[in-house]
Amino acid sequence: MRRDRTFLNDVAFSAHDYASIVQTNYPGAHDQDYRARVAGLIDTARAAWPACPTFDYHEDEHSTWKLVSEILILLQNRYSCAAYLEAREKLALPLDSVPQLDDVSARMEAATGFTLAPVGGLLDKSEFLPMLAHRVMRCTPYVRHPSYPFFTPEPDIVHELRGHAPMFMHEPFAEMSERIGHAAAAAVDAGNAELLDLIGLFYWYTVEYGLIRENGEVRIFGAGNNGGIQDLLRSMDPTVEKHPISLDAIRELSIDYDAPQEVFFVAESFEHVAEMARELEAMA
Ligand SMILES: [Fe+2]
Repeated sequence: MRRDRTFLNDVAFSAHDYASIVQTNYPGAHDQDYRARVAGLIDTARAAWPACPTFDYHEDEHSTWKLVSEILILLQNRYSCAAYLEAREKLALPLDSVPQLDDVSARMEAATGFTLAPVGGLLDKSEFLPMLAHRVMRCTPYVRHPSYPFFTPEPDIVHELRGHAPMFMHEPFAEMSERIGHAAAAAVDAGNAELLDLIGLFYWYTVEYGLIRENGEVRIFGAGNNGGIQDLLRSMDPTVEKHPISLDAIRELSIDYDAPQEVFFVAESFEHVAEMARELEAMA
């Protein structure tokens, strides 16, 4: 059964431009035709909000989706955690064509109630994170630039659907994400900006780039590394720093959205991460 989306009427579609990517060499930042295409897909989403429209993807977008998917699936088979691989089979995303956000959302809603809602760019963490408490994930509808599909500084639909969506099919992960949302909502309600920053870092190094220990091996559960070829390889590269996750370990870090990750953190279990989210919520 589909979730009622009317509560999203109280949530603004609002999104902010990725101001920082214009300073990078990312080809998608400087290709005016590409920027216009991204803007067109965002306009479609904004016009339909809070419903999720059908997006009309082009041939080159389908072929970028297919190329990245084929490479990712091979790497995930070797490096992703068991929960991801099991959920990936259950979600069964198409390989040859860009999936529709709403079709994927329907399957997630049936599994855990997690719902996908479109977004057109950056949301402030005070807007984005508390929505996880309602089991809502905001997703970009556009596809990364075709000239370099191995890394993108702005999240795209490959990141959202190959990275995030399968994990939201797994109840312990959905519960953990909801806990992070509750912690963020508590920090926003308390007006505690410093705590919200810490929760933002915690989200980044778990939901976005998390690693998990499984049968003595380090495996991937983060959406950035499950949904991006370069980030996946970096997170498994033995020369790249990895540490056990703890609030003290991440507290002094900052996030560079435009660059590949320099450091990754390893959780013991999703319950372990949920327990840390409860600690964050209690700090508000
Ligand atoms: Fe993400």
